[in-house]
Amino acid sequence: MQPITFRAVTAKNRIVVSPMCQYSAIDGLGQDWHIQTLGAKAMGGAGIVFTEATHIAPEARITPYCLGLWNDAQEAFMTRLATLISYGGAIPAIQIAHAGRKASTVAPWEGERHIAPDAPGGWLPAAPSAIPYAPDRPNPHAMTEGDIATTIRQFAETAGRAYRAGFKIVELHAAHGYLLHEFLSPISNHRTDRYGGDLAARARLLMEVLDAVRAVWPAELPVFVRLSCTDWIEGGHTIEDSVTLARWLRERGDVDLIDCSSAGIAPQQKIASVHPGYQVPFAERIRREAGIATGAVGMIREPELAAEIIANERADLVFLARALLADPAWPNRAASHFGLKPELVPQYQRALI
Ligand SMILES: Cc1cc2nc3c(=O)[nH]c(=O)nc-3n(C[C@H](O)[C@H](O)[C@H](O)COP(=O)(O)O)c2cc1C
Repeated sequence: MQPITFRAVTAKNRIVVSPMCQYSAIDGLGQDWHIQTLGAKAMGGAGIVFTEATHIAPEARITPYCLGLWNDAQEAFMTRLATLISYGGAIPAIQIAHAGRKASTVAPWEGERHIAPDAPGGWLPAAPSAIPYAPDRPNPHAMTEGDIATTIRQFAETAGRAYRAGFKIVELHAAHGYLLHEFLSPISNHRTDRYGGDLAARARLLMEVLDAVRAVWPAELPVFVRLSCTDWIEGGHTIEDSVTLARWLRERGDVDLIDCSSAGIAPQQKIASVHPGYQVPFAERIRREAGIATGAVGMIREPELAAEIIANERADLVFLARALLADPAWPNRAASHFGLKPELVPQYQRALI
């Protein structure tokens, strides 16, 4: 429950609402649903509240119902969200994303299906190479250098809009098999130009996106990067690659935290074991070996586990997703569990926690 400062931003505690897609936007525009779900989380006591993956262009969305930030109406909506999150005493944070070859699918509750490029609501996904995510998906369009330049510009435009909307932290989504991860991973990146080859070449897009985002995102505000620390596939991106990459990001001096997730690049992944805190060793190793702040995420459900991770300096932040879906007031309950008085908005001050 101790505060933490990144640049000019101080979060009141180490608990983060991890990004969670809601598949409830219309043409990329947020709705009442987003207000209620993030509003509840903001009032629940987390130090930092992330929006779901917010996409940089219509064809960058995972589904036709994903949130976007590429036009003025969306910027006005995101301003409402950032204001609401701040009202709860949390730092408003936004994850910005491009879905790459995993774009053009239905919502998860409609099944694990893609939408064919010529079907209503569908489009042809873009990717580093024309290799589909799964055998039943269409071959994605291999991005040209021109497409890459457009994508970099769109990331920067979205970051600029996010800043104007009042967000204080921007996170680049370079995990879970989406575009930036697809460039990083040898499974999905078979390019022979300067964006493919060794790790430095595969990381070039991420670095160029960071340059462009940093050019519009103020120096006093933090930038986080979410990585899939391993692909869990033989011949894929490894934790060793992630440590090297994290060192490069630390040396740049403009990235403040690595949010340490894993997996998502291809269906043949074999996750060794999914248990409480199973991804914490990645956050711990990157923190120790690359000397950069990290966030731990994945199956953190109990306040004791969250406290153990922070107190033993295995990570600087804990990101929680499903526990906060079940109970947005989890952070306030955790405070009370440890004998502390949660800070509540005035409307909730008579709550029995
Ligand atoms: C409904 C839902 C939506 C998610 N959407 C995103 C997302 O937009 N971006 C992202 O990086 N991760 C997303 N995730 C992954 C979570 O942020 C988190 O990494 C994962 O659920 C593991 O944490 P947990 O065990 O606390 O749920 C999502 C998870 C859930 C359950």
